[in-house]
Amino acid sequence: MSFPKNFLWGGATSASQYEGGYAIGGRGKSHLDYIRRVEKDDTDKTFPINVTEEMYNDHKLHENEYNFAFRRGSDFYNRYKEDIALLAEMGFKTFRMSISWSRLFPTGKEKEPLKDGVEFYHNVFRECHKYGIEPLVTMIHYEIPVSLLEEYNGWESPKLIEFFTHYTKFLIDEYAHEVKYWITFNEINMIMNSSYLGGGLFVEKSKRSNEECIHQALHHQLIASALTVKYFHEHAKESYVGNMIARLQNYPYTCKPEDVLATQQQNQFNYFPTDVQAKGFYPKSILNYYKKNNINIDYYPDYEKILLEGKVDFISISYYHTAVISNDKDKKEPIGAFIRNLSNPYLKKTDWDWCIDPIGLRITLNDMNDRYGLPIFIVENGLGAHDKLETDGSVHDAYRIEYLSKHIQAIKDALNDGCNVIGYTPWGCIDLVSCGNCQMTKRYGFVYVDADDEGNGTYNRYRKDSFYWYKKVINSNGEDLSI
Ligand code: BG6
Repeated sequence: MSFPKNFLWGGATSASQYEGGYAIGGRGKSHLDYIRRVEKDDTDKTFPINVTEEMYNDHKLHENEYNFAFRRGSDFYNRYKEDIALLAEMGFKTFRMSISWSRLFPTGKEKEPLKDGVEFYHNVFRECHKYGIEPLVTMIHYEIPVSLLEEYNGWESPKLIEFFTHYTKFLIDEYAHEVKYWITFNEINMIMNSSYLGGGLFVEKSKRSNEECIHQALHHQLIASALTVKYFHEHAKESYVGNMIARLQNYPYTCKPEDVLATQQQNQFNYFPTDVQAKGFYPKSILNYYKKNNINIDYYPDYEKILLEGKVDFISISYYHTAVISNDKDKKEPIGAFIRNLSNPYLKKTDWDWCIDPIGLRITLNDMNDRYGLPIFIVENGLGAHDKLETDGSVHDAYRIEYLSKHIQAIKDALNDGCNVIGYTPWGCIDLVSCGNCQMTKRYGFVYVDADDEGNGTYNRYRKDSFYWYKKVINSNGEDLSI
């Protein structure tokens, strides 16, 4: 079996990591604008995306001194025409981007949006359509207006549901005629790994235990997502709306039943937000976990009805690596930026120690296909690597081509297995600031952006070898994966 004719080939970005222009047109600050790049020689080895209230206050105090790389992104704000032309040259059918909430509603509480922001996104969508590129828009890729963090402790408060749905209703009313594919929350499950990033939370400030605070906030996000989906179904009948999780395929460390059980439990946690968003109710396993661990959620009024009425049309995932789980609590070592677990001796790793596992993608797709029976959109995948810009403007990234070729082959195999995969948008199609490390030197793109971790550089764009390779892949609708 080949890729379906209308398969959505493209690439993915997010506003906070790519857009820049953070102080233009009255845009308010988002909580990602206060994540600081921890420099190489910094003795503070704290993981940059886990910001505590103390760190946050320090960052505010040094507003003009610290390196806040997300504020710069890759300057898409000023270069969107050039960038979209490059995507069109590769033959993109779709382009995943996100809208910056604070560019439209600077504090998140305004009734009316800022004109400049509204116009900016119209311009971007118009530019995409000029080339027949269908935008795929994430409504929230982590970032919330900073005042919602300061006043409400982010998603811990049910007030966020009210502010968010005001924002998303505006997006639907204003842009649905220009955007067919939408995602409510980026990687909604990541709040369980990084509470600041995923929830705008200072867990230490809450009266609840850390875990209860996180699950309370996640509950509010699930409600906000369901209410948004319902509004979509009522008001934007031509659009499709999906959820999104960071999908981790977990393998047992050994075939010891204890390891297999621990792996199953990890999988239940990884899947549970998708269970809620796709099936419309909380899985019993999670509710029992809450009970056993004294996690008391204040459920939103009528939440069961809201969740049932807000089921998504498709499932979307990011997929980068797999994880190995042991029942032995001491057997934990870091893999990747976000997850602490065991690495896999059968797999090679990236420069950032993420296991490269194309077969894991096939396993995941099959698993999800059977579990949900909904179309699956792979909206992130890719290799973060050190790239070198040669003096003639070329970038030879054979390692990226190899990575992508194997993963696209895995999708093809999954299609052959019977999976309903509708699109593929590799991450950071034009280089952007890495999320986990707040750096430019971890690059994913087909297009090189001349900027370093400190923001020095021309920000000019250069086509990498993978640019020409991906163009060929799209042009052959995935038939020609030769390297
Ligand atoms: C996903 C996020 O988890 O992984 C992206 O949705 C992120 O925002 C991507 O950039 C890759 O992670 P990193 O840390 O390499 O940028």
